[in-house]
Amino acid sequence: MADLRTRIGSLELQNPIMPASGTFGIEMADIFDFDLLGALVLKTVTPHMRAGNPVPRVCELPNGMLNSIGIPSKGGDYLVDRIIPQFSAFKPPLVVSISANSAEDFAKFASRISVAGVDAIEANISCPNIEDDGHAFAMSTTATHKVIAAMRKATDLPIWAKLSPNVGAPADIARAAEDAGADALVATNTMLGMAIDVKSGKFKLGNVMGGLSGPALKPISLRVTYQCVRAVSIPVIGCGGISTVDDVLEYLMAGAAAVQVGTASFIHPMAMPDLIRGLDERLDAEGWETVSRVNGMLAQRREAANVLEYA
Ligand SMILES: Cc1cc2nc3c(=O)[nH]c(=O)nc-3n(C[C@H](O)[C@H](O)[C@H](O)COP(=O)(O)O)c2cc1C
Repeated sequence: MADLRTRIGSLELQNPIMPASGTFGIEMADIFDFDLLGALVLKTVTPHMRAGNPVPRVCELPNGMLNSIGIPSKGGDYLVDRIIPQFSAFKPPLVVSISANSAEDFAKFASRISVAGVDAIEANISCPNIEDDGHAFAMSTTATHKVIAAMRKATDLPIWAKLSPNVGAPADIARAAEDAGADALVATNTMLGMAIDVKSGKFKLGNVMGGLSGPALKPISLRVTYQCVRAVSIPVIGCGGISTVDDVLEYLMAGAAAVQVGTASFIHPMAMPDLIRGLDERLDAEGWETVSRVNGMLAQRREAANVLEYA
């Protein structure tokens, strides 16, 4: 058996596979053992109750999907009283994803959920559906710094900043999050997209625009992951379009310390346990032994990559 352990700051994960926020819920416990996962990442919750976006909220595409769920939320009290106790009964570290309307609200909410059973907070500063026209905190270095710095003052828990691919210079945003005190980055959330039904002449999503996820997103998130890895010294968790062991290996070779799996679980609910087993077998078969060994493999070719680097 390969050694799949990986470290995200102060947290040791038994393997590098965890769910992407919003694509994983307690109902999946009927399908596989959550204790197999590297970590448990919950759907984003806002401080107060919130309705989601107008329907339709999802739309299938040939190579992925669009969603404009809009973060429906039962609010902070429900999270603390009901959801956290339910998930903290499992062994893997529990990561709670939060979103809010201002840096101050992010900080207050981070403080509110810093309770027993929570091991890290993922700051969803990147969801494209929250703000008008798809703007998000993670599209600006100043807003990113402000949110993470405010959260840093409000909690001692590790903070993971979830970044957006909808930016021109992800390395700058990554550095802003690191400077403000983030313990890790998650790269990335969904890419803003749109689809039209040509028969009806209607938008396919009630919210017009939504987030692209699945295989179509992978080359973009992989590139952003690589740019972040090169820009910061905190761990980067890759996310976007992962459905095969090769996808996981690509992210690890790009330098990701771990990965999150989202859309693939909708198609194949056993995706995550299968990836953990498959990664173990593959590392054994290749004689690679550890995740950090895979991380180092692309570094040997960094000079060649520099020649081609765009940003
Ligand atoms: C239906 C759906 C709901 C999502 N909800 C959230 C969410 O609540 N918070 C968040 O940070 N990301 C959310 N995401 C984004 C995923 O966590 C992930 O970043 C993105 O889907 C890319 O990974 P994938 O290609 O493996 O799905 C959602 C994605 C989907 C498809």
